Amino acid sequence: MLPALSLRVGGSVLGVGGVGARARAGLRGARGLRSGVAMAGAGAGANAGRGALIVLEGLDRSGKSSQCAQLASFLETQGVPVEAWRFPDRTTAMGQMISSYLSCQTSLDDAAIHLLFSANRWEKRSLMEAKLKEGITLVIDRYSYSGVAFSAAKGLALDWCKAPEVGLPAPDLVLYLDISAEMAAGRGGYGGERYEKLEFQKKVKQKFKLLKDAAWQNVDATQSIDSIQTVIREESIKIVNECNSGRQLMQMWPSESTKEVLQ
Ligand SMILES: Nc1ncnc2c1ncn2[C@@H]1O[C@H](COP(=O)(O)OP(=O)(O)OP(=O)(O)O)[C@@H](O)[C@H]1O
Ligand SMILES: [Mg+2]
Repeated sequence: MLPALSLRVGGSVLGVGGVGARARAGLRGARGLRSGVAMAGAGAGANAGRGALIVLEGLDRSGKSSQCAQLASFLETQGVPVEAWRFPDRTTAMGQMISSYLSCQTSLDDAAIHLLFSANRWEKRSLMEAKLKEGITLVIDRYSYSGVAFSAAKGLALDWCKAPEVGLPAPDLVLYLDISAEMAAGRGGYGGERYEKLEFQKKVKQKFKLLKDAAWQNVDATQSIDSIQTVIREESIKIVNECNSGRQLMQMWPSESTKEVLQ
């Protein structure tokens, strides 16, 4: 049985189970970690040893990219197999259409661009699931919550906006970087992208508030980058351990009515 190890994060000691064991062992890959958990009999099922789906959300300039990069590096130093992703993924054909829209080079109907953002997540669905099953934790900069909040802020009905997201892998943890639109706007100012306007961001914030679900954690994003990172690490290590121990991967939206389990 693998020993339960502990990890010092920002002054507090956290139990990290198999993940810490792998970090200490140094060289074992994701496969070794999975079989280790199975041998430990840690309630492992078909999802034993899977990676966690961790999403960072928030207004523009709330600090998502800074925190994602630091979290992914941190998890790597702990021996957690991890990849940092972002949506929209501008590298695909659909992502390039989105990029062109965001930079105001093209116009699109609000409903059409909403579906395009959603399709950009769907085109990565099977890869996301495969990575998670392989034991790789994904740290994702924006996901369905941004997709819905931004379109709903334009006036589209919330339920209509959520519908095309149904069936995507549900995050195990949503870290919402909570900050006022005014304070976020003050951080280095907005660039020239379509949504980077104070009044619009205020509406987006109202819509985000309607999207809290079981995976959702509010993080005070007005603190220093380091203080926020400490909180984010603690929450992330907990969920990485849970997923490693067999927590089931759910589908969007993770509400009582749609608790489908991905196999
Ligand atoms: N906690 C913080 N305190 C002060 N400044 C911060 C904090 N977090 C991030 N910043 C700064 O704010 C700016 C925006 O940060 P970042 O790019 O991480 O935000 P973002 O949410 O990814 O933004 P966008 O939505 O535009 O991609 C950067 O200049 C960053 O250094
Ligand atoms: Mg960013």
